[in-house]
Amino acid sequence: MIAEASPDLDPQTSVVAIDGPAGSGKSTVARRVAEASGLAYLDTGAMYRAITLGVLNRSLDPADRDAVAAALPAIDIEVGRTTVLVDGAAATDAIRSAAVTQNVSAVAANPAVRAALVGLQQQWISQQQGGVLEGRDIGTVVAPRAGVKVFLTASTRERARRRALETGGDIDEVEADIIRRDQLDSQRAESPLRKAEDADVIDTTEYSIDEVVGLITAMIEAAGLADTADTHEKRMN
Ligand code: DC
Repeated sequence: MIAEASPDLDPQTSVVAIDGPAGSGKSTVARRVAEASGLAYLDTGAMYRAITLGVLNRSLDPADRDAVAAALPAIDIEVGRTTVLVDGAAATDAIRSAAVTQNVSAVAANPAVRAALVGLQQQWISQQQGGVLEGRDIGTVVAPRAGVKVFLTASTRERARRRALETGGDIDEVEADIIRRDQLDSQRAESPLRKAEDADVIDTTEYSIDEVVGLITAMIEAAGLADTADTHEKRMN
């Protein structure tokens, strides 16, 4: 039997897109929101980081677009909810190393890398029938029809303070690196970091994580996307 395609079943409309710059609180907030709403979760930044680790492991120049594009089909990444594998080896911590962080913006600016990863992310959305995705271009490129779109921001100083607390780094150095990465991510030709026109901006500088999670969870419930027993049943009927 051939299932009839229904326009109501566009899985993108069941996406919660959480975009924003490094240190805006995205990762912690997106994970907590997914848990609270019973939705699947994908960290797309981890995918760009995993490819970057594969590039560095092959001793390629991350800025050499042709070499990276040629190697791409052979780089095997698996990004799960809590663990990451690169070429079959555990890489959950390695993708957060300074070397990967230094080079990920160059790899993420490569059009071949973006095309491959956006394709994988859209496939994931179809398989999961929606979910919470965090990144830079979810609301603009990956899932422009997302049912909930949030753009998180915070002052650069606050973002640096949070990252320095996490990594034990010097706040001024972390802030300089954040400014450098913001410039690279927002000025690149391919899918630059920008707010989707229809995204709600939440400035997290003055909010606690709990407050931000509460705000987004309320938006998800208002949009009817929380996977409670009730909405699950409604979707099945
Ligand atoms: O969120 P993060 O810091 O782990 O992301 C790592 C890098 O990947 C960041 O420099 C921007 C890039 N990225 C991207 O270009 N598009 C995404 N959807 C997610 C991340």
